[in-house]
Amino acid sequence: MDYSTTTAKTRDYYNSHDMKSFHTLIYGENIHIGLYRNGNESIPEANLEMLEMISSLLTLNPSNLILDIGSGYGGTARYLNKKINCRVDCLNLSEAQNELNRELNRKQGLAPFIEVIDGSFEAIPTPSEIYDVVWSQDALLYSSDRTKVFQEVSRVLKKKGQFIFTDVMQSDDCTAEVIKPILANVSIKSLASIKYYRELAKNFGFEEIQVIEMPEQVINQYQKTLEAIEQKYEELSKSCGLEFLKYQKIRLNNWIKTGKQGYLNWGILHFRKF
Ligand SMILES: C[S@@+](CC[C@H](N)C(=O)[O-])C[C@H]1O[C@@H](n2cnc3c(N)ncnc32)[C@H](O)[C@@H]1O
Repeated sequence: MDYSTTTAKTRDYYNSHDMKSFHTLIYGENIHIGLYRNGNESIPEANLEMLEMISSLLTLNPSNLILDIGSGYGGTARYLNKKINCRVDCLNLSEAQNELNRELNRKQGLAPFIEVIDGSFEAIPTPSEIYDVVWSQDALLYSSDRTKVFQEVSRVLKKKGQFIFTDVMQSDDCTAEVIKPILANVSIKSLASIKYYRELAKNFGFEEIQVIEMPEQVINQYQKTLEAIEQKYEELSKSCGLEFLKYQKIRLNNWIKTGKQGYLNWGILHFRKF
């Protein structure tokens, strides 16, 4: 597939051996922002709590077909299939993650219900108007063309279908200049904001169901990740490059600092197609 430079960089990042080892040791099958209610939760517990919260906002049934865009290792798809008994398609850029996703589905007997598709959410390789829900967690920040993503989501959703997603964003009044330094050396061109997504959704004729802002959760997740790196450093350093670990620590510290200054946002955005 012919990807843009930003997308190709993201694909390499998520395909890397370092990344896979890092995720295996620190996160497990869910690599999204978790829900920390008291801060005592482990990363996997908080990540599961988040899946519970998002799914509680939808009324799902076994006949639903869901598309998860930017699906990582497929933790969301397995969670939804086990909970609702519905079919889920996973669309993800990283072939390495998709391989592991397929393997986990096979091992758990879920392969007949979860289809894993290699590709980009900027050109969704599925027919139009087939999904009841398009779901996404913390993946759209990697898009360099969010208008295209909304166009594609609108195309593949059935009439009245719902788009529910979470994203790491900048606060509404933050300028691109403030965010620029934390995006240096990462495959992210810009961050969206709630205001931007509301406008985009409106332009594509989506109706807003609700927006839940929880900027503190991105700081919590990154702080927990930093702590986990310190605790598991010896083990991590056996399977991840030291440069990679150094880079992760710098990256997380920068994002935490920017979050504490009030420049970052995070939330659940929920829209319905007319
Ligand atoms: C932070 S991870 C979140 C993974 C998953 N949603 C989860 O909750 O565990 C971001 C994911 O977005 C995927 N991604 C980034 N850009 C993408 C694109 N253009 N199309 C499809 N997937 C993409 C990456 O491969 C990665 O799996």
